[in-house]
Amino acid sequence: MSAPTTPAPAGAAYDAAAVRAEFPLLSGGAQLPDGAPLVYLDSAATSQRPRAVLDAERSFLETTNSAVHRGAHSLAAEATELFEGARETVAAFVGAGPEQLVWTSGATAGLNLVAYSLGNAAAGRAVPGHEDAVRQWAPGPGDEIVVTEAEHHANLVPWQELAARTGARLRAVPVHDDGVLDLDAAAAIIGERTRVVAFSHVSNVLGVVNPVERLVAMTREATGGRALTVLDACQSAPHLALDLPALGVDVAVFSGHKVLGPNGIGCLYGRTEVLEALPPFLLGGSMVTTVTLEATEFLPPPQRFEAGTQPVSQAVALAAAIDFLRGVEERFGAGAVAEHERRLEQRLRHGLREVPGVRLLGDSDRSERVALQAFDVEGVHAHDVGQLLDARGVAVRVGHHCAQPLHRRFGVTASVRASAALYTTEDDVDVFLDALSGVRAYFGVGR
Ligand SMILES: Cc1ncc(COP(=O)(O)O)c(C=O)c1O
Repeated sequence: MSAPTTPAPAGAAYDAAAVRAEFPLLSGGAQLPDGAPLVYLDSAATSQRPRAVLDAERSFLETTNSAVHRGAHSLAAEATELFEGARETVAAFVGAGPEQLVWTSGATAGLNLVAYSLGNAAAGRAVPGHEDAVRQWAPGPGDEIVVTEAEHHANLVPWQELAARTGARLRAVPVHDDGVLDLDAAAAIIGERTRVVAFSHVSNVLGVVNPVERLVAMTREATGGRALTVLDACQSAPHLALDLPALGVDVAVFSGHKVLGPNGIGCLYGRTEVLEALPPFLLGGSMVTTVTLEATEFLPPPQRFEAGTQPVSQAVALAAAIDFLRGVEERFGAGAVAEHERRLEQRLRHGLREVPGVRLLGDSDRSERVALQAFDVEGVHAHDVGQLLDARGVAVRVGHHCAQPLHRRFGVTASVRASAALYTTEDDVDVFLDALSGVRAYFGVGR
């Protein structure tokens, strides 16, 4: 296990600075001109990688790199063992079995996979023996696909496309002014014609945690189990303990690069019966049993969805990221990371409320949240805010964060987003708030 190098007794007070020291980029790698440490508050876009993850990928490439599942040589067998071992580790991280975890190139690819698979089902393609199961989720003319107004484009555009291809109607559940999902509206929208309900666990703009089990139960009740529930867990996987089978969703996705792992790898979880019934999306090598010039038989899941050469070193490194996260939990005790992140969330959101001219996109204390918040600074464009913060050594995200409909709903075209991770310190948040406090004065606004 790649635990942090300086052991501390289990249950010791959480030490974010010590955890941060395990991340080369944050502990000197990205040096600012004046030698000050970088304040990195863009973890929701991509998280930094600890040394253990960088080492795991390098070590694999230097000692074991080989094509998995194919070679007759021992290097290939060793690579396959590590690759499949990584699947076990990552699946266990979300409470699943390895056969329920499909490697993808990222969350976007996972969502496209499901949407295109349903499109194939709607066009009459089905896995032999599973025709009825998949037909019930495949939308047709007059059916409905339900998303929320707060979705990342990755969990919206593929469903728009599926609706356009099948004649189904796309409907969106609105959010309240405080960013909380309107569950009454959800109950009114999800109904007999619903075939898919796709929603994020945590909004990448609002930081609000959606009530997944309630939405799943609501969908089951309203549709008699006929709709597929699709969870975008991109922003929950880095912060919340996930048990996807217990949440009851049919499928879920998340990306490696947001959970301290590498780019180019993501995960699609599916309930066993769902993965068995879904027809493949990408077709080609490594996902077949028998191919003739006329027809092809496909492997069972997860390989049915893994056509072509897989991201092997990335899988190994992602497993190292999960081991690292576990190592931190073991070092400081169960719940210590969550408690630290809760403190960051409070400090960030309550601190933002105190900065004159700052308006949070969706703000209230009535829902669980993660340490991630978008906001608008009255009279100053988000890009100018970002630039000034950058000059003070603070990295935030600006723009629409791939959630244009949500920005439109809050009456802005762009916002600034600050987001934290387990390596973020309370000092980071304070430096950010201090720098932000001077922004309006710098631009001569609000005097
Ligand atoms: C909520 C949410 N969904 C989906 C994505 C897409 O993830 P990726 O670009 O890694 O595929 C992101 C990335 O920002 C996200 O925040």
